[in-house]
Amino acid sequence: MYRSNTCGALRASDTNSIVTLSGWVHKVRDKGFVAWVDLRDRYGITQLVFDQDRTSSELLDKARELGRETVIQVKGEVIERASKNPNMPTGDIEVLVTELQVLNESKLPPFTIEDETDGGEDIRMKYRYLDIRRNPVKESLIFRHKVTMEVRKYLSEAGFIEVETPYLIKSTPEGARDFLVPSRMNEGQFYALPQSPQTFKQLLMVGGMDKYFQIVKCFRDEDLRADRQPEFTQIDCEMAFVEQEDILNAFEGLTKYLLKEIKGIDVSDFPRITYDEAMSRFGNDKPDIRFGMEFGELNAVAQHKDFNVFNSAELVVGIAVPGGASYTRKEIDKLIDWVRRPQVGAKGMVYVKCNEDGSFKSSVDKFYDQEDLGKWAEVTQAKAGDLICVLSGDTNQTRAQLSALRMELAQRLGLRKPDEFAPLWVIDFPLLELDEETGTYHAMHHPFTSPKPGQLELLDSNPGDVKANAYDLVLNGNEIGGGSIRIHDKEIQATMFKHLGFTPEEAKEQFGFLMDAFQYGAPPHGGIAFGLDRLVAILGGQETIRDFIAFPKNNSGRDVMIDAPAHIDDEQLKELHLRLDL
Ligand code: AMO
Repeated sequence: MYRSNTCGALRASDTNSIVTLSGWVHKVRDKGFVAWVDLRDRYGITQLVFDQDRTSSELLDKARELGRETVIQVKGEVIERASKNPNMPTGDIEVLVTELQVLNESKLPPFTIEDETDGGEDIRMKYRYLDIRRNPVKESLIFRHKVTMEVRKYLSEAGFIEVETPYLIKSTPEGARDFLVPSRMNEGQFYALPQSPQTFKQLLMVGGMDKYFQIVKCFRDEDLRADRQPEFTQIDCEMAFVEQEDILNAFEGLTKYLLKEIKGIDVSDFPRITYDEAMSRFGNDKPDIRFGMEFGELNAVAQHKDFNVFNSAELVVGIAVPGGASYTRKEIDKLIDWVRRPQVGAKGMVYVKCNEDGSFKSSVDKFYDQEDLGKWAEVTQAKAGDLICVLSGDTNQTRAQLSALRMELAQRLGLRKPDEFAPLWVIDFPLLELDEETGTYHAMHHPFTSPKPGQLELLDSNPGDVKANAYDLVLNGNEIGGGSIRIHDKEIQATMFKHLGFTPEEAKEQFGFLMDAFQYGAPPHGGIAFGLDRLVAILGGQETIRDFIAFPKNNSGRDVMIDAPAHIDDEQLKELHLRLDL
């Protein structure tokens, strides 16, 4: 038996018991005649004491030589500590060791296994298994496990069945590039790894499964960001005989349950705003509504004066920054530099200080009088002491720029509180999105999303105006889930493919299996997928999903620990028909 107890278990009530513990040497403190060793495992740390008087000097010598991270097993008696440590669950006791066995030696770790480590990101990723021994990483993984368990419990109790779908499939159109896998047995042919199980879950509805879910890996070859990994996990769900309202209610229920179980927070019914409203109020389809600073459109009050920058702009829009009137000239200049960075891309920024005495001081005083500026303050809901920041230009670009500024300032002002949760639904997304480069439309969500009732006719005349039965669940400025009501009619699906630029042959070649299935009584259906990594990170008060993934990829999509991707040898290339000259 390696252990009778874990390193987090023993309390004062265990005093006088004889115990066996196993774990890693966290720290050794040598005081000459006595030495203490902190023994660590997943459950905690227990202090061991080696004492030449009470046990033997031989044992003490052995303990002194233990290097950090050595794996040991000890036997001894639980005794009460002379000086207790109230900060540790096991702080009332220590184990007076009578037997010590080294189970495995350890090289000196390349960084300290402490909550605050001296190891940088790169080295920690290379030795991720050592990083996982550290509390913050370990706790994040345990937290993820808890969330996942609660999701399974809730959905299972609500009648959802978890069904596994294949990973070696044909391309699924979620808008990213596919990861491809060459087939040895089918020369020149490739599987694609699923960007999501979208088509399979629809086929499960045709199969009569009625309520499906799956906690499933998805693969997307796209540029990485803090909230994106090339392989990530979805809570993928689908239901038959439902309308949008049913889906929103079902998954609002799941989200409320998680906030209650995991964070102990009761949230009221989620606000629902349309995509158009989200764009005009926040310049963003995933607005953070924990704070105000909503957009005020200023065209009506700022155009038709002598300020040409505004007169020639499609949109003039501002936000009121709480307390910003006290910013110095230098601070404001820095803010202007910030919006002009290529990542944001604004040409400049106009500002108005709303002084405490009710007067205004702006960077465009030459063109606007106090009355004009008063109207700006009204529209942006600026109060005395605030700073109004105004951007102008092309509508979409300007909204994106001001949204970036709004988020940045909220972050600086501490308004994005990690322990506050403000979920909302964004609904009525456009069905199609114009690709500026090619001038063609593609599906904003995916090609299986149904248009809103009565809008099908608009597809020919005003494709960009057609709204979809599509929705996103947004939490604290992050898209944590998205879904739609699907097309379940073969003819409508064929029309959609046509509008997306597929010839009937291409549609048949790629999605013939789905169109075929729709001929055999496909029920009305719809669903949603949550990004589990994002959900867990946000519930954990963070936005970087890497911290909640045991073995994540770095920004170049590499696993630096196992050193993947890697070259393969000629023999394998030949077998996979990838090198025809061999
Ligand atoms: P969508 O593409 O919106 O929908 O994806 C659903 C959710 O998955 C998360 N997500 C990601 N998380 C981490 N890294 C990534 N690279 C990544 N990409 C997406 C997001 C997102 O909201 N089949 C549809 C769902 C449906 O229609 O039912 C789909 O995949 O949180």
